[in-house]
Amino acid sequence: MSAAAHASDPVGIFDSGIGGLSVVDAIVRLLPEERLIYFGDTARIPYGTKSPDTIREYAAQITRFLLEQGCKAIVVACNTASAPALPYLRAQWPEVPIIGMEPAVKPGAQATQTGKVGVLATRGTLQSERYATLMTRFASHVQVVENPCIGLVELIEQGQFDSPEIEALLRSIVPPMLQQGVDTLVLGCTHYPFVEPLIRRIAGDQVTIINPAPAVARQLERLLRERNLLSSAIQGKHVFYASKPTPVLETFARGLLSDGTYSVQYHTLS
Ligand code: DGL
Repeated sequence: MSAAAHASDPVGIFDSGIGGLSVVDAIVRLLPEERLIYFGDTARIPYGTKSPDTIREYAAQITRFLLEQGCKAIVVACNTASAPALPYLRAQWPEVPIIGMEPAVKPGAQATQTGKVGVLATRGTLQSERYATLMTRFASHVQVVENPCIGLVELIEQGQFDSPEIEALLRSIVPPMLQQGVDTLVLGCTHYPFVEPLIRRIAGDQVTIINPAPAVARQLERLLRERNLLSSAIQGKHVFYASKPTPVLETFARGLLSDGTYSVQYHTLS
């Protein structure tokens, strides 16, 4: 980003793959005048099983790329990357508003009636210091049941949102949580909102499901407003980059936006 960012500059958003599109969806709804540049690191997914150092390096490469495209702010639309990379990215680019994500443990602890919250997140997120701090600060008075959802990100990345295979996987994760008295489920990975309807079908109507994407969009709005960087009219097209071709990205863009308002491109980073 140049020293003088402008309101008409795009917002950069990234994830290890298509998961961050659940955040894009919330941002487009709240801030339709913002132009977005998305990067899904589909060639190197999953991040959930990689070391914090590796993830930090990938996140820095992507942030640099997005800033080179002229982005005025960065949204790390990935819980797994936010944990090790956020402090590093903010130190590297102190002048850039950088918004991160974390499992919604605090809202989950506030919402539960039974005192039991289920957290669905990647292994990387659940093992991170950032998550441990969240637990100490906001969840010491509730019981938290965690699941690293092994294989779930990979199935979602393939575009399986309601297949027998993904249903079987979710049936091995969600009902055991409910049997322990969980009444609130936190979607602690940006891929999981893609299967929220299926989780709802399995869990039933009484369970509260928390997707933090709308809160991230509101946080972006606050930061842009504070800095007079909110766009009033979209200029140019949204661009969706992926480091490896993925049909889901194109399907998503087509579903959310009108033809001609976006382009999908492939770009490798190393
Ligand atoms: N979407 C990412 C998150 O929010 C994780 C996916 C992965 O493991 O790469 O945690």
